[in-house]
Amino acid sequence: MIDPVTVQKIKDTADIVDVVSDYVHLVRRGSNYMGLCPFHNERTPSFSVNKSRNFCYCFSCHKGGSPISFIMEKEGISYHEALLHLAKKYGIEVRERELTDEERERQTRREGMMVANEWAKNYFIGNLYEKEEGKNIGLTYIYGRHVTAEATKAFQLGYAIDKGNDFTDAALKKGFSLEILKATGLTGVSQQGSVYDRFRGRVIFPVINTAGKTVAFGGRDLKGGPAKYINSPESEIYSKSRELYGIYQAKGDMVKENKVYLVEGYLDVIGMWQSGVRNVVASSGTALTDGQIVLIHRFTDNVTLIYDGDPAGIKASLRGIDMLLAHNLNVKAVPLPDGDDPDSLAARLSPEELKTYLREHEVDIIRFKIDILLKDSKNDPQQKWSVIRSIVESIAHIPDKIKRDVYIQDCSILLDIKETTLSSEVAKIRFQIVEQEKAKRRAEEIRGYTENKEGESSLIPTDSENKNDAGETRPLPDTNISPLFPLERELLDNCLKYGLVGLWPSDKPEHENELVTVVEYISEELDVDGITFTHPQYSLVFEALKQIVPVFKRELAEEESVIAELVEKKRKEEFERIGRMNISLSEIKREEAKLEECLNEFAIAEREKFAKNYILDKFGSHEDDVIRNQTNRALAEKHQLSSLFTKNRPVEKIEEKVIQIILNSLNVLKNGIIDLQLKELMEEFKKLGEDQSELQRELHVKIGEIIHMRSRMAKDIGDRIISPKR
Ligand code: CTP
Ligand code: MN
Repeated sequence: MIDPVTVQKIKDTADIVDVVSDYVHLVRRGSNYMGLCPFHNERTPSFSVNKSRNFCYCFSCHKGGSPISFIMEKEGISYHEALLHLAKKYGIEVRERELTDEERERQTRREGMMVANEWAKNYFIGNLYEKEEGKNIGLTYIYGRHVTAEATKAFQLGYAIDKGNDFTDAALKKGFSLEILKATGLTGVSQQGSVYDRFRGRVIFPVINTAGKTVAFGGRDLKGGPAKYINSPESEIYSKSRELYGIYQAKGDMVKENKVYLVEGYLDVIGMWQSGVRNVVASSGTALTDGQIVLIHRFTDNVTLIYDGDPAGIKASLRGIDMLLAHNLNVKAVPLPDGDDPDSLAARLSPEELKTYLREHEVDIIRFKIDILLKDSKNDPQQKWSVIRSIVESIAHIPDKIKRDVYIQDCSILLDIKETTLSSEVAKIRFQIVEQEKAKRRAEEIRGYTENKEGESSLIPTDSENKNDAGETRPLPDTNISPLFPLERELLDNCLKYGLVGLWPSDKPEHENELVTVVEYISEELDVDGITFTHPQYSLVFEALKQIVPVFKRELAEEESVIAELVEKKRKEEFERIGRMNISLSEIKREEAKLEECLNEFAIAEREKFAKNYILDKFGSHEDDVIRNQTNRALAEKHQLSSLFTKNRPVEKIEEKVIQIILNSLNVLKNGIIDLQLKELMEEFKKLGEDQSELQRELHVKIGEIIHMRSRMAKDIGDRIISPKR
């Protein structure tokens, strides 16, 4: 943990133009800078850098943020790592906060393991180039597999001496503790208590994470032994399901090419890499996991699978498809001839031929799947039906409705089945998937909630109310998961998305002519009904949102004058242009009226832009994990409005839509609260015995009131949603 003063210093020092310039060629445009977006492939610049706000943003792919979030995204590293990166760049000395004993222990252990791995990697490299056995056996094997010297260096291949504990002896002598060596899995201890090396007589492939740390190793057998590969075990620094082999070497090219090739093995990555295809990673022989897909998605939206051409490889490629599609990636595949793998293909073809081959043989994944399945089904109607089912299943995993529709159209032709049939089957399964996802999200909420109970400091609301006299955090309500959490989350997400949109609500006359932001509106509405967010994380974020509103308003006022200046300048230029035009007076009048309209729209768009980016700017790289994570999660989902925002629609239209969305989520929450109260009262009612008729009557009245309130609200919701105020 870096101490807060240092963090502030880093934030104050890191200049967005300077930071971005390390990656992007920027050109000055008025008060901004523009360049080609480093997060997607483009020909005309849509990446804008605002020096005064210390913020960057791509108008096309919507990535960007503060210097810290830019570095996180660009380097694929954590918040903490990004701070260190910037500190190094600016020569800021990093002071870390005093850690608790437990934190320190965990930290030192993890660091110790990384240091040990780093040393081990270099030790294995040393063996390969300097020891006779390494040169004779290891290097000979490597070169025999046509791996170039350059690739051997780039992937930091090494060799483990074929002796019981050559490595462990050296590491112990170097001063590493047996404890740490065991934790990394490099060293094992036999039942008799003697130590031995995990890797012996093997070529070593270090697994390096996005931050450049060696987290594991793979070792290839050279003697035809039973285990072709041995890998490091799972550990505190290595979770196999969250790493991809080659990601460190590939990430830059993944971003640049906006694409990644996904292959199966170590040598496939290296083979493609040395043939000039450098955006390639491997899942290392196991089924693709969610964590690996998330990792890929940090760098690109486009994945192309190239698996071995044998039946096993084909089966493996079919397995990951639905999961990839569910993450909204664009998925393709390059089928290989039976007997080939990417490594052999790359060895057989020249780099030029390889690129051509990949380009020409790449097919859409659904098409690929249909081809494979139909080939096996041989016109048997029973089998054909199961092919259709399987394709429907895949299409249903795609979150994007338009994409689904396009596939449905294509597949109706390919599978020779009516589009409407296909479409209704997809819809059915889609519904199930969405329900499952909801259930999963709820499970996650539970997890978030229980984590809170265990008291991770930053997850707890910081207000004094939540502390008892001893300053400890008050235990949270002892319910299981609350059914209100998903509803609260929906409301919070909408606040994060649209929180600073200005409203002029007609039902709040006290605010006439005054800009009321969505956040303020919601906050008042909640206060009136005495509602608070019960989920501690949501409550924390909402409070933080309320706090930035006044600051936002001040800055908006400043921004207004900047915009006004801009508008004025434009107007003058345009007037001059119109004046120079050789047209009649009435035409001039018309031109001028048109111009005013344009300028007005321009000003509105600028204002919206400012408001829209503000929350992301302030919260997207916030030091508080909860605020940052919740914000990024909420804003990562597609805005329903983003198309409205970008197309310069009249501002009233945006407001109307926002009011609808916001009121809807607010009312759904209120409704949920009422339902919950009702349920609790009913339970109580049921528990009462015959002899408690007085209490029964009381409860009965209460229940009646609530039911009445609910039906009134339902009507209210209908009214308000059908006719948004203005
Ligand atoms: N793998 C593994 N353990 C095994 C077999 C395979 O971890 N016993 C992983 C390795 O990451 C390997 C990948 O699965 O790279 C693919 O396996 P395979 O195709 O069998 O190996 P190749 O990489 O093709 O290696 P080689 O060409 O040397 O056979
Ligand atoms: Mn292989």
